[in-house]
Amino acid sequence: MVKYKELEGKNIVLGVTGGIAAFKAADIISRLKKQGASVKAVMTKNALNFIHPLTLETLSGNPVYHDTFEHRANAWEIDHISLAKWADVMLIAPATANIISKVRCGIADDLLSTVIMATIKDVLFAPAMNTNMLYNPIVQENISYLSQKGYGFISSKSGMLACGDFGDGKLADVDDIVGHLARHFENREGMNGINVMVTAGPTREYLDPVRFISNPSSGKMGYAIAKECADRGAKVDLITGPTNIEPPENVNIYKVNTAKEMYERALELYPNCDIVFKSAAVGDYGVERVEENKIKKSDETLELVLVRNPDILKELGRQKRKQILVGFAAETENIEQNALKKLKDKNLDFIFVNDIKRAGAGFEGDTNAGILFTKEGDKMEFAIQEKSGLAGSIVDVVLKQI
Ligand code: CTP
Repeated sequence: MVKYKELEGKNIVLGVTGGIAAFKAADIISRLKKQGASVKAVMTKNALNFIHPLTLETLSGNPVYHDTFEHRANAWEIDHISLAKWADVMLIAPATANIISKVRCGIADDLLSTVIMATIKDVLFAPAMNTNMLYNPIVQENISYLSQKGYGFISSKSGMLACGDFGDGKLADVDDIVGHLARHFENREGMNGINVMVTAGPTREYLDPVRFISNPSSGKMGYAIAKECADRGAKVDLITGPTNIEPPENVNIYKVNTAKEMYERALELYPNCDIVFKSAAVGDYGVERVEENKIKKSDETLELVLVRNPDILKELGRQKRKQILVGFAAETENIEQNALKKLKDKNLDFIFVNDIKRAGAGFEGDTNAGILFTKEGDKMEFAIQEKSGLAGSIVDVVLKQI
């Protein structure tokens, strides 16, 4: 039970879809309002058969939206865009199999599905449906797909359903829904005022203007951590080697190529940092002599002299004052010993190590698995999972240190 106004000042768009649990939207609005939130309800055409919009309008103190082409007093405002922008979060309760499956497919054919498509804010679904529908493999696959894409789900509970069946699929308790929203904002804003630096991706060590030595790091792990911290309200500087992935929104991007460039940028930004996630795969060696022009082939053997690059993380560890340093190690043998040696040698607070020979924990994939060690000697193992989920778990552990 939420005890005080945990949703003060929050704007919540409540999507109500057509199931018998739609009548609970009235209670949800009333509780959200009591917690200090402003609520605007959007109903689907089917939801109108279960509860009258006047009830939701009266309880929310706002107009209820249900027709994409309706013209309001502010005719210049386009409802689906203005609602999508107004929301701090969208809550779809109850969410039918239909809306979940439509969103999964990117269908925007009425006001509610259009607002969901148009928003860049978090969307949380509270499903309510018959047990067989809920466990239909297609619906389950859609839920799992949307979860991977960052949509949230508030699990339904077990009980007597409207159809007389007993089983899962009952809308979560209103207390649980409101509590879930409060926790959502708590997580989302838990890093306000914290300065984070993330390094990601590979570095390139040039031989000449067109050739370089590098590694297959995709940057996905570092980008996922940068996104996670930015989503939680941190100010994030992302120093990135060349990657083929879209950088997250709301982070300051610093593009670099070589380890030396990454070193210089990292040291420049370091004094203002609270936490550093050093996930880049930095080249340990650069070419002694970088040719100004393209090297032409000859019949002779080509010898390259490689010289040590600076160890960026070790230098950050040496200059450490208030900062929390999180190192990353990709190992192929003696996984734990190697990680612990790096933790100590580089004066780190944490090190996350993964075994790159293990399926699902390699360089380029969307998943990862590994062990997070703390300098106090604690050890946490993480099973194979999406890099985005893993980023959240690593950030959770590190934040406990602050
Ligand atoms: N690192 C760094 N600068 C380097 C090399 C590594 O900042 N020149 C950082 C990486 O970003 C990572 C950690 O150090 O957070 C461990 O990197 P890793 O390549 O696993 O270890 P190395 O210290 O380079 O040791 P080795 O390659 O011998 O395993």
